[in-house]
Amino acid sequence: AFTPRIFSGIQPSGGLTLGNYLGALKRFAAEQDKMQTVYCMVDQHAITVWQDPEALRRQTRELAAGFIASGIDPQRSILFNQSQVAEHAQLGWIFNCVARMGWMQRMTQWKDKAGKNAQNASLGLFAYPALMAADILVYHATHVPVGEDQKQHVELTRDIAQKFNHDFGVDFFPEPEPVIEGAATRVMSLRDGSKKMSKSDPSDMSRINMTDDADAIASKIRKARTDPDALPSEVKGLEGRPEARNLINIYAALADMSVDQVLAEVGGKQFSEFKPMLSDLAVDKLAPIGQEMARLMANPDEIDAILRKGADQAREIAAPILKKTYDIVGM
Ligand code: ADP
Ligand code: NA
Repeated sequence: AFTPRIFSGIQPSGGLTLGNYLGALKRFAAEQDKMQTVYCMVDQHAITVWQDPEALRRQTRELAAGFIASGIDPQRSILFNQSQVAEHAQLGWIFNCVARMGWMQRMTQWKDKAGKNAQNASLGLFAYPALMAADILVYHATHVPVGEDQKQHVELTRDIAQKFNHDFGVDFFPEPEPVIEGAATRVMSLRDGSKKMSKSDPSDMSRINMTDDADAIASKIRKARTDPDALPSEVKGLEGRPEARNLINIYAALADMSVDQVLAEVGGKQFSEFKPMLSDLAVDKLAPIGQEMARLMANPDEIDAILRKGADQAREIAAPILKKTYDIVGM
């Protein structure tokens, strides 16, 4: 039996969206008192596509500020930057030798990101899910809170753990569970209900950024795509209405309510009435976070000190697990 432990990470690839907040950060904060929580800025994943060095440094601090401002408390969670704990990359290499080419080729995110130009994608982009498996398993983490889009990678992590254990005849790595729960496991674009809200979408109107001010939030919600009908009072009335579904999901997640509870309250209203309610709620929840991020960004030494201490704590867990892995492999 493995001690329950949570690991999750976010790439410092620039900007944090409401999707990152509801699908990841808000939930990371909520897990803190349930078990040991280890959270990481995965800069080594970010560089699988080109990152300007100065921008990467700034984005890493900004992401750390986003974690802290979202309520991840360095006293209750280990918070650090991946490249500062070399054990991730060291275990990642071993997992490159465990994972199979065919497994990696099936990853839908690889297919989406590399697209038709796979020959020109970095080798790191292809191998990234094996490094992600190392991120998780170097802590013997048992639970991985993520959005829907990461489910396949956590399943690959389980396959790698299982193959390692089987190949070496040990019961050393746990098979971690993806934890995908709540109303907002997949926040969609405000402009297109079939695409996920993402920092890489070229249209800024498609997403709410965690650093957006009240005016920007209100204007993006006002202009969000909807349909002409009133809101239903039951979930089945959202079928075939992805944009309405998305706005209701966002409301529910921000308010800590279920979708049923929200619909009981807003059923029958027009979007012209619901959108201001949603935008007041979003401003209420996000504005203080944006302000705290700005305060932290003005104090980079405070952020760096937290990350240094977090890296020391992370290494204390990871180093003995890596050492034992080397021993099992015969190194
Ligand atoms: P991004 O997808 O924005 O590039 P990451 O890949 O670093 O960001 O993802 C960080 C975390 O945020 C992951 O747990 C991911 O599942 C979650 N996440 C990202 N976008 C969304 C979204 N639109 N809805 C819900 N969760 C999301
Ligand atoms: Na904790």
